[in-house]
Order: sequence, then C-alpha cells, then structure tokens
Amino acid sequence: ATYSVGYLVGSLAKGSINRLLAQALTKLAPDAKLDLREIPIRDLPLYCYDFDADYPAVARSFKQSIADVDAILFVTPEYNRSIPGALKNAIDWASRPWGQNSFARKPTGVIGTSPGAIGTAVAQQHLRSVLCFCNSPLMNTVEAYITFKPGIITEGGEVTDASLEEFLRNYLREFHLFVARVLTVLPRDA
Ligand code: FNR
Repeated sequence: ATYSVGYLVGSLAKGSINRLLAQALTKLAPDAKLDLREIPIRDLPLYCYDFDADYPAVARSFKQSIADVDAILFVTPEYNRSIPGALKNAIDWASRPWGQNSFARKPTGVIGTSPGAIGTAVAQQHLRSVLCFCNSPLMNTVEAYITFKPGIITEGGEVTDASLEEFLRNYLREFHLFVARVLTVLPRDA
C-alpha cells in the first residue's frame, strides 16, 4: 500500500536547508510508496491553554491535517541544541485540548540537517522525548543526522550526492515498513 505522510518543517526561514531536505524526500518518496505533503506550521499563533475551549480555525485545520494522514515526518533543524520554538509550538497545539492529542497512535519519524558534524542529533533526541510523551509510535532506526554541505541538494530538491540519495531512499523504505507495522497493530479506524 501507499501511505500518506504529512511532514512538518521545523524551520520558518526562506532559505531553510531542512525545507530543501523535505523537498528532496518528497521527490524520492513515491519510489518507497509514500506520498509526502507538507503540513504548514507557520501561521499558528503561540499556543496557550486559554484556546482549549475554542481552538482558532488555523489550529483546527492543523489538527485535521494530522488526522488525515497515515504518518507524520518531522524534518527539523537544531537551534541551540534543541528543536526550534516554532516546531515545539506546533506540537503543543497538536497535543491539545486534553483528550484530543493528535499524536496518539500516530506513527512518526524524525530527520534533520545542519552544517555541523552531528547534524541535528541533539535536537532529534529532544524531539524523541517529546513524541514519546505524546504517545506516538516513533521509528527508532534508521536515525538520520545529515551534515549539510552546500550544493548537496539543489533548489529544486534534487540530491546531487549519490551516497546521500541512497541513504534517503533507504530511510524512506524503512519508514514505509515501520508505518505498515504500526498500522497493522493500530489501524487508523480502530
Ligand atoms: C543554529 N544552528 C545550529 N546548528 C547546529 O548544528 N546546532 C545548533 O545547536 C545550532 N544552533 C542554532 C541556533 C540558532 C538560533 C540558529 C539560527 C542556528 C545553525 C543551523 O544549523 C543553520 O542555521 C541551519 O541552516 C538551520 O536550518 P534551517 O533553518 O536552514 O532549516
């Protein structure tokens, strides 16, 4: 089966290298029987629980977009050894109101890139803790800590580095297998 995957880009920057990575993954995804589409986080206001009684339309549609897909992929930079505030804000919106946590039983994966040698590893560990608390079945391996070098992904999302392309293809294949396993035990309509 082909699975629908909504991806969240942790960066709001115009020149985001993580957005480039997401574009590259989107192009490679059909070969792994995954259909990737972005779930935007940019227009979400800052969350607080005063909204719980009456979520604004942008937040309701954000939660609906998560409900509409089989799985979620986080493509995130590392800011100060953690995830960007914009991404944490989006996760907080999705996790509430209490009892309506959008991540419960929703398979997730994490991936990210930075120019640094450890390629967002610390941010991804933080994100894993958060998703664990949010009761999301999270792919443990393959881990994907990608050191970004200028030109390895073009503006159009083409991967120019053969070993990176093969790595991303394998990541997507493994994510497909993971989503299939999770949905076997936890079907979406259960
Ligand atoms: C960074 N950067 C960074 N890189 C890293 O590997 N570890 C880190 O902790 C940080 N911290 C950090 C904080 C802030 C506020 C900024 C703006 C940047 C560098 C970062 O990896 C680089 O700017 C990437 O381009 C960010 O990814 P996006 O936003 O381009 O997708």
